[in-house]
Amino acid sequence: MLLPTPRHVRLEDGVLRLPAPLPIRGGGPGARLLSERLGRAAGVSTTTGDGVGVDFHREKDLCPEAYRLLVSREGVQIFSGDDSGEGWAVQTLLQLLPTQVVGPGPMEPDDLTLPCVDIEDEPAFAWRGSMIDVARHFLPLDGLLKHLDVMAAHKLNVLHLHLTDDQGWRVPVAKYPRLTEAGAWRPGTLPGHQPPPDEDDRDDFPQHDGRPHGGHYTVEEIGRLVARAAELGITIMPEIDMPGHMEAAIAAYPELGACDHVKHPRTCFGISDHVLALTDRSVQFCKDVLDTVMELFPGSPIHIGGDECPSVEWFSDPASQALMAHQGITTGQEAQAWFERQICEHVLAAGRRPVAWDEVLELGAPEGITVMAWRDRAAISEAAVRGFDVIAAPVQYTYLDYGQYDAPDQPVTIGGPTTLEQVAGFADELRIDDAAQPHVLGGQFQLWTEYVHTWGRAETLLWPRGSALAQQLWAGSTEGADSLDGLDRHLQRLTAMEVNWCREPIDTTSA
Ligand code: ACM
Repeated sequence: MLLPTPRHVRLEDGVLRLPAPLPIRGGGPGARLLSERLGRAAGVSTTTGDGVGVDFHREKDLCPEAYRLLVSREGVQIFSGDDSGEGWAVQTLLQLLPTQVVGPGPMEPDDLTLPCVDIEDEPAFAWRGSMIDVARHFLPLDGLLKHLDVMAAHKLNVLHLHLTDDQGWRVPVAKYPRLTEAGAWRPGTLPGHQPPPDEDDRDDFPQHDGRPHGGHYTVEEIGRLVARAAELGITIMPEIDMPGHMEAAIAAYPELGACDHVKHPRTCFGISDHVLALTDRSVQFCKDVLDTVMELFPGSPIHIGGDECPSVEWFSDPASQALMAHQGITTGQEAQAWFERQICEHVLAAGRRPVAWDEVLELGAPEGITVMAWRDRAAISEAAVRGFDVIAAPVQYTYLDYGQYDAPDQPVTIGGPTTLEQVAGFADELRIDDAAQPHVLGGQFQLWTEYVHTWGRAETLLWPRGSALAQQLWAGSTEGADSLDGLDRHLQRLTAMEVNWCREPIDTTSA
């Protein structure tokens, strides 16, 4: 079983056994990836010599990301219009080989056989993403590098990194060193589930576990991550969430805040009232941070957050009040719009695509913003019909921090269950039945990490629901995404990749 399902597959008679060493002629990053995989899993080296092997060709007429993969007894021919198409062709080729080829090995080189086949393929949607929140819990780089490999195996092409939030700051900014000193560490974390109501705004939960938690990526690590992503055909989109979700920055630089009592990044979760002050200084801070982030992540879209920003402190903070009076601003929404308009213009002026959560639609969304619709289906069509590009990320289908199964003794999650069958309906949300359909760039799934402490746990929540979502983003329909039975061979592949995917819980209550 191939996942995602290619657009056209014609199976032919016969099999091809790849010789060792394997001639690989032409190609770029995809060819290097194939060589890396065969070397690692089966100890097979590659040459550029004659004979049965793999030939890469560029064909300018093919759409972005499209490819044709021809396997016959005479060898493998791969046609693509760009590096991405070449890479996806190699991912399909790897899926035609025994599943161990995506693992650490060792496998016998003699087992490298694949069926003769003619495949023509291209994605339905250009944006196929996975968001990881590395702010609530810091997740180390090795797991992110592995996640890139798993994403590429699903032909996912955008890794959205939620790098900052109330609970921690994870990206170095030379001009503001305290962000990754004071801002990256909290003294402890609320154990278990946040007691209701989540709205109870306490930045220091007295019963936190007393275990300092934190960390940040280095410039060198981010460079490695971006380079590896590019090899795999993945763009990394950094997010700096503003003007709310900023307690970590305010803990590091209290003068940026609209209150004066944030002493450290938040030890509990929920929505914080402690937001950036409405001042030219805090706007300049965000621009400076984004300038650094745009250098660290060259060419990528830039997510500027904008979700869940309470305005209560803007009405008590003298500096914010002065700014509002000066600007003639009377409501919280106008105030947030004032902030975001300047940030959006700054990102556009740098030649980059600004992206914001869908709250931006209520703020008179600035021209040129791409909307990430998380709250419901209505936001997807509203954004597109109003002429904004939109990325679908609706809670009901794509928030994988919700548990997969409703069973006893499951680890704490924010809610759920959100079952595999439920996420299998996602593609229907992407069809808005309107001339504005081309504004729907695609979609992505999110992993918020309030209750996710390790990569092992992250993988359990991500897969195989992420597989079902990747299937739909590539194929553009719900077909074939809804059952674990259909995913069987794909799950073997995930096992070979040493992914800790979610097994069905064993029912111990009936024993
Ligand atoms: C969000 O879940 N606050 C984007």
